[in-house]
Amino acid sequence: MAFERVGVVGLGTMGAGIAEVFARAGLRVIGVEADAEALARGRGHLERSTGKAVDKGKLAPGQRDEILGRITLTTSREDLRDVDLVVEAIPEILDYKISLFKDLDRICEPGTVLATNTSSLSVTAIAAATGRPGRVVGMHFFNPAPVMKLVEVVGTVVTEPGVVADVTALAGRLGKTAVAVGDRAGFVVNRLLLPYLNHAAALMELGVAGRDDIDAAMRLGVGLPMGPFALLDLIGLDTAYEVMGVLFDETRDRRHAPSPLLRELVTAGLLGRKSGRGFYGASGGAPHTKQAKSRLGTFKVVGYEDEGDGLAERLRAAGFKSSEEPDVVLRLADRPVIEHAVRLPDPARMVGVHLVGDQVAELASTALTSEHAATAARDLMKIVGLTPVPCKDRAGFVVDALLFPYLNDAVRMYDSGYASIEDIDAAMRLGCGYPAGPFEMLESFGLARVRDGLRALYTEYREPAFAPAPLLDQLVTADVSEFPRR
Ligand code: 3HC
Repeated sequence: MAFERVGVVGLGTMGAGIAEVFARAGLRVIGVEADAEALARGRGHLERSTGKAVDKGKLAPGQRDEILGRITLTTSREDLRDVDLVVEAIPEILDYKISLFKDLDRICEPGTVLATNTSSLSVTAIAAATGRPGRVVGMHFFNPAPVMKLVEVVGTVVTEPGVVADVTALAGRLGKTAVAVGDRAGFVVNRLLLPYLNHAAALMELGVAGRDDIDAAMRLGVGLPMGPFALLDLIGLDTAYEVMGVLFDETRDRRHAPSPLLRELVTAGLLGRKSGRGFYGASGGAPHTKQAKSRLGTFKVVGYEDEGDGLAERLRAAGFKSSEEPDVVLRLADRPVIEHAVRLPDPARMVGVHLVGDQVAELASTALTSEHAATAARDLMKIVGLTPVPCKDRAGFVVDALLFPYLNDAVRMYDSGYASIEDIDAAMRLGCGYPAGPFEMLESFGLARVRDGLRALYTEYREPAFAPAPLLDQLVTADVSEFPRR
């Protein structure tokens, strides 16, 4: 089926972005909003987004006029009677969506495909509320829709053969890559991404590390385009909260219970970019981010010969002296740092160090670390050009604690048969701008390292979901370094 005229219902950030994507690909678009005020906001989104492209020289003013000229804005759903496809992008409330789809079912021709951009709600429940369940699918775009290259196309058990293929082909025409999946809460991306974001909020609440430090660790250490809190602000804290709630209802996994911090911020109206304030702009800094002045002192590096020698060499090259009576003992960490610290005559001097990539040094303070040693360690790292990420001495510190459970979830997802390795990797690269998909990351870190890190996390937090996925465990036991592509 060829789609030439499409409707988009709901012109918030996502809906307006989706309308722009269709219009840029040459389709005619009818954009529908509930009232004149919301319509004006939707028009504003479209004008700003295309205006920026003109300012950057990415679009000629004439092209912008053509794109905007393909979009008709209306407050009447009845104007959708002749379209080939409708994409819904209204708030994540199932009752609203069901009521809208019933209405669309009445208004549109029987052949029209009705698609929901829901982040996590049941496409099956939405489809079943219409008289055409076989022609209802999920068409899930990623924020910012004009930029992110992924569309998840969600078919249900009653989707007609051919509809998923037609919508997948349409995604290709829009310049996107489609990943076709079945109807499970969160699909591929949100099922993997949102628990990680929720976990970041939990680590901040536990005081393991501060907002800016966690964001810096994930951005500079792992190469993600945004840290978790900046991304939550982009997605919208209310959306993240709703998605977590849906995930929890389906899985009953306590990691999916929305973080109380999210609830608090949402209740306060701090929704992220759309309300002008979320994690950023809010007083979210953690105790560890406070800076104390220190005299740059002497150091000693212990543990992990190669890495340790490399760090000691960098410090000496920067003019610092290693000493047997140092201000700070930098312990390249494996076991809990406190287990090493208590063997020192003065445990207050020990700080755990975990180098992440070539830019970040996680610095773990134990319950006994002095403020002087912690500050000296931070200053030393800055001077040798590393971004210090101060954190508590907890398994996985920040990066591994956030990354490894996400990788484990991806293994479980694949092993459940929900999606292929290629699709999961592509979804995270194209939907979230990750430099590599989870399986690519697993294979480059080494499966054994991730399995062992998960074991340490499980031992520390006793969280069942942190136990290594059986498939991962078995591959390590069998000394296999790559996942079998089935
Ligand atoms: N609309 C249109 N274009 C936009 C845009 C927007 N809202 N925001 C950024 N862009 C464009 C810029 O114009 C720029 O284009 P150019 O390369 O042609 O000049 C390009 O994107 C890069 O933007 P910037 O240079 O301003 O900034 P960055 O390089 O930092 O990129 C980003 C911004 C694309 C948002 C990047 O940080 C990123 O990929 N972040 C991850 C976003 C992500 O994970 N999204 C998925 C969230 S999950 C989701 O949406 C699912 C939902 O169900 C919850």
